[in-house]
Amino acid sequence: MGNLSWGFILLVFSAFFLNLDAFELRKGQKTERISGSAGDVLEDDPVGRLKVFVYELPSKYNKKILQKDPRCLNHMFAAEIYMHRFLLSSPVRTLNPEEADWFYTPVYTTCDLTPNGLPLPFKSPRMMRSAIQLISSNWPYWNRTEGADHFFIVPHDFGACFHYQEEKAIERGILPLLQRATLVQTFGQRNHVCLKEGSITVPPYAPPQKMQSHLIPPSIPRSIFVYFRGLFYDVGNDPEGGYYARGARAAVWENFKDNPLFDISTEHPTTYYEDMQRAVFCLCPLGWAPWSPRLVEAVIFGCIPVIIADDIVLPFADAIPWEDIGVYVDEKDVPNLDTILTSIPTEVILRKQRLLANPSMKQAMLFPHPAQPGDAFHQILNGLARKLPHDKTVYLRKGEKVLNWTAGPLADLKPW
Ligand SMILES: *[C@@H]1O[C@H](CO)[C@@H](O)[C@H](O)[C@H]1NC(C)=O
Ligand SMILES: *[C@@H]1O[C@H](CO)[C@@H](O)[C@H](O)[C@H]1NC(C)=O
Repeated sequence: MGNLSWGFILLVFSAFFLNLDAFELRKGQKTERISGSAGDVLEDDPVGRLKVFVYELPSKYNKKILQKDPRCLNHMFAAEIYMHRFLLSSPVRTLNPEEADWFYTPVYTTCDLTPNGLPLPFKSPRMMRSAIQLISSNWPYWNRTEGADHFFIVPHDFGACFHYQEEKAIERGILPLLQRATLVQTFGQRNHVCLKEGSITVPPYAPPQKMQSHLIPPSIPRSIFVYFRGLFYDVGNDPEGGYYARGARAAVWENFKDNPLFDISTEHPTTYYEDMQRAVFCLCPLGWAPWSPRLVEAVIFGCIPVIIADDIVLPFADAIPWEDIGVYVDEKDVPNLDTILTSIPTEVILRKQRLLANPSMKQAMLFPHPAQPGDAFHQILNGLARKLPHDKTVYLRKGEKVLNWTAGPLADLKPW
C-alpha cells in the first residue's frame, strides 16, 4: 500500500473520531434493547419451567478435585464448578427424581491443570465414564433413556471430544457414553464432530469481580481503533506454522504489525481490561479452538468483537443476535481487515455499541456468584427449558440398549 493511501486512511481515521466526539459518544450513556423474540428470551425466567435433579456423587468426582487445585475456580473452564454450586441452591432443583425433567451429574472433568495452569483432558474420559457407571447402577434414570434426559457441562476446548488438539479431538469424537446426552459446552463450530445437534453453547468463564474492578469512567473516549493481545504464532506446538489459528493470527500480525490503526502485541499489559474499554474493535480470532474468553471480555467492556473463526457457533446463539452486535470476518479476509473495519459506517458502529451497552447482554456472558437474573446460569436453564417436553422416542423399551459401553479408545476403558 502506498504512502498516499495510508495518509488517506489516517485522515478518515481522525475524521471518524472527530465524528464520535461530535456525537458525544460515551460508553454506557446510551443503550439499546435487543428487540424481537430473539432478544426477549434473554430476560425469560426459567423458574417453574423445568425441574432438575442433581445426582449426589462421592466428593472424589468434584469437591476433592477442586481442593487439590483451587486454581480451577478462576480458570476459563470454571463454569463446571459454578454451575454445580448454582444448581444446588436453585429453585429449579428438585429432590424428587421422579418429577425431574433433567438430570445433572456434577463431575469436574476439566480440573486437572499443569503447573503452568494449562488443563489436561487425559483423565476426563475415564472419569466421566466412571461417573456414568455409578449413576446408571445406583439410580434407574440413566437406563430409561441412556442419557437423553441428562445434561453435562463439558467446557473443555473441544467439549466432550476431550483433546486440545483439533485433529486428535476429531479422531476421538464425542465420548460414546455421552452421545445421547445434552452437552453444555464452550466449543461451538458448525458441522464439526465435537458439536452435536441440540448442544447448548455457553461463554467461557471470566471472573466477574475482577472485570468489575477494572471498569474505567465511561467518559474516557475510545481512542484505540483495533485492539488485540495474545499469541500470533505457537512456535512450541506448531513450529512450522499454519496449524495454529489456521494461520489467521499470523496473518493479522504480518499484515498489520506496523499499521497505526492496530494496537496489537503479544505482551499482556496490566492495563489489558482498561485498554479494551478504550478500543472500538477487539479482535477475537480463533486459537487452537475457535473460542476464547476475549469474546466475554469484549462484551463486558463494550468493545465490538471482531470474530475471526469460520463457522463458529457463539454462546446462546439462539437468544443473542451476534451479527448485530459483532463483526464477522472470514479467515481468508484477514489481509483486508483494515479496509473492512474502516468502511463500517459510523451509525452501524454506534448501534453495535448501544446493543453492547445493554445490561442483559453483559449479564448473559457472566457466571456471577451469587447468581443474578438473566446471567449465564439462567440462560443455560432457559435453553434446557426450551427443549421440553422430551420427545417420547427418548424413552427406551425395557432392556433396550443403544449405547456401546466398550466403544472408544482402549485407554478410556481403564477404571478411573
Ligand atoms: C442399567 O443397565 C446396566 C446394564 O447395561 C446394568 O448393569 C445396571 O444394573 C442397570 N441399572 C439399574 C439401576 O438397573
Ligand atoms: C462396541 O464397540 C466395540 C469397539 O469398537 C466393538 O468391537 C463392538 O462390536 C461394538 N458392539 C456393538 C454391539 O456394536
